[in-house]
Amino acid sequence: SPSVRIAPSILSADFARLGEEVRAIDEAGCDWVHVDVMDGHFVPNITIGPMVVKALRPHTTKPMDVHLMISPVDTYLDAFAAAGADILTVHPEAGPHIHRTVQHIKSLGKQAGVVLNPGTPAKMLDYLIDDVDLVLVMSVNPGFGGQSFITNQLRKIEAIRKMIDKSGRDIRLQVDGGIDFETAPQAIAAGADVLVAGTATFKGGPSAYADNIRRLRGG
Ligand code: DX5
Ligand code: ZN
Repeated sequence: SPSVRIAPSILSADFARLGEEVRAIDEAGCDWVHVDVMDGHFVPNITIGPMVVKALRPHTTKPMDVHLMISPVDTYLDAFAAAGADILTVHPEAGPHIHRTVQHIKSLGKQAGVVLNPGTPAKMLDYLIDDVDLVLVMSVNPGFGGQSFITNQLRKIEAIRKMIDKSGRDIRLQVDGGIDFETAPQAIAAGADVLVAGTATFKGGPSAYADNIRRLRGG
């Protein structure tokens, strides 16, 4: 569907050629570039920080969608904003005051996202939905690419789609983890409008990216 946005996770890119990889997914028609930031503390893996976001910024004109899996998170928001992130998405478990963290992101002039782990209920959003620009539903436990989609998260996506529609606000509903050609249509049917895909985008190398992105979109 043309209204579905595809956000490739560069976690599955060739890290030795990251700039070229970002250019390749941009040219292949991705909508956003999803950057997974992991600290080896909040999640059991370590990836990249603001310096890499800054280095990649000139390689794409697409929004940089930065998924922060770091704790504490508040102390790093300014650095990621300055590095050129457009969307900053945070886990409520990664700091003491999620509402304050969302306001901080907005004060930086960036779009604010809140992300729910597979075990975190939709109810967490009750007093945040009026302030966020994006809700991210994790369909795997965060930390690694290439995991299997947790099917019961479809119910959560459906519930959040209702909350968003009821709010009347312009809020993206994003899904991240185990998205492939089989699970993408399920997530879209449940109400998601942004799909993160690492493995499924980068599979087959640069010559396959455009086709992978088109198929994930369902077109
Ligand atoms: C997991 C990350 C995801 C992940 C997706 O912690 O947030 O973005 O890289 O990878 P795939 O699409 O391979 O499941
Ligand atoms: Zn992610």
